[in-house]
Order: sequence, then C-alpha cells, then structure tokens
Amino acid sequence: METANNTKTNECLDPQHPHPIVVLISGRGSNLQSIIDAANADLRVEIRAVISNKSDAFGLERARQAGIETRVIEHQSFPKREDFDGALQAVIEQFQPRLVVLAGFMRILTPAFVAHFKNRLINIHPALLPLLPGLDTHERAIAEGFKEHGASVHFVTEEVDAGPIIIQARVPVLPGDTPETLAARVLVEEHRILPQAIRWFMEGKLSPNADDGQ
Ligand code: GRF
Repeated sequence: METANNTKTNECLDPQHPHPIVVLISGRGSNLQSIIDAANADLRVEIRAVISNKSDAFGLERARQAGIETRVIEHQSFPKREDFDGALQAVIEQFQPRLVVLAGFMRILTPAFVAHFKNRLINIHPALLPLLPGLDTHERAIAEGFKEHGASVHFVTEEVDAGPIIIQARVPVLPGDTPETLAARVLVEEHRILPQAIRWFMEGKLSPNADDGQ
C-alpha cells in the first residue's frame, strides 16, 4: 500500500508524466478542444476518455480526431438520475483519472456522484459566479443590464454552480450585444481559463480540501 502511494506521488511530481483526466461533454466541445490543444502544447495531461450523455455531441468527433477514447452514456436509457450517475461513475473510474472535467456537460449530478469525486471534479460555467448560476446566462446578463460578464471554473459541490471558484475571466457587455455576440466573447475566455485551472490543479496549487459548504 505504501509503495503504491509512493509511486503515485512520484508520478505526480514527474514533470514528464502526463496526468490522466476524463472530460465530460454534452455538445459542441469547444472547451474540450481547448484542453486537447493545451495538452498538445505544454499542459501535462493525458485525456484518457471523453464521455458524452448525447450520442450526437460534436465534441465526440473532436475527441476521435485527436485519437481519444470516447463513450456515450445516454441519460434517457436510465430510469433514475441515480442510475445514470452510477453508470457514469463506473465508466469514469475505468480510466482512473486524477481529475474529472465537466466541459459543457449539461446534467445535474447527484450528491453521491459529487461526493465520490470530491476535490477532483471541476466545471466551467459561463458567468461570473456567484452571479447567474443556471442556464441562459448570456440572455440574463443582457436583460439585467450587467456591464460586465464572464466565466468561472469551479470545484463541483452538491449545490449547482456554487462550489469554490478556481479562476474567473471578465468581459465587458457592450451596447448592442446579443446573447450570441456576448457568448462568443465569453467563450474566448473560457478556452483560456479552463486549461489554466487544470494546470493549477496538476501543479498542486489548488486546495485539496475544497469546502463543500456542508
Ligand atoms: C460553454 O459555454 C460552457 O461554459 C457551458 O456550455 C458551453 C459549452 O460549450 N456550460 P462547448 O461544448 O465547450 O463548446
């Protein structure tokens, strides 16, 4: 047991050794692409698998193009949320990731799932949390007259979009912005801060004891 732990620790400290991650998606996968691109540059991660709850997610194609294993676990196939999450957890664990990244994964996760991956589960959210949790953040930022908007990467806790924030990026809301123009401005920043959060995690710069608010 001690030997196994030591081996793991040494691997984590070895700058040449890529850290295994699993990425969960539901759609386009542009944030996934930002991780693939960073991994092809200088981010020391190995994306062991990309898992989607939707079979037509374009991000699956991006993963295949990059030679990454893909899995589809369709939530409609499961009678209960707990069953879907249990199946998802089992598949993720087959790949033994140090970190699980929600990159546009549009499912609310059960407390049991979140607890299982505590402190190794992060999410990108297109708003300056704690402002605008939930959906339609760009529409709401404009409707509420915000002058500033942005994106956040945070640890996932039981409460949706409420876990400890790792990094945020701000963009202006400009006169005449539509949800689409604002989303595009935010997305550029998402693609910068998500790989940065993963880098900090792997460098051990983030607290291993994210407060789960309980
Ligand atoms: C991103 O804006 C992400 O913040 C939100 O959903 C979008 C997913 O985009 N949760 P993509 O699939 O990464 O292109």
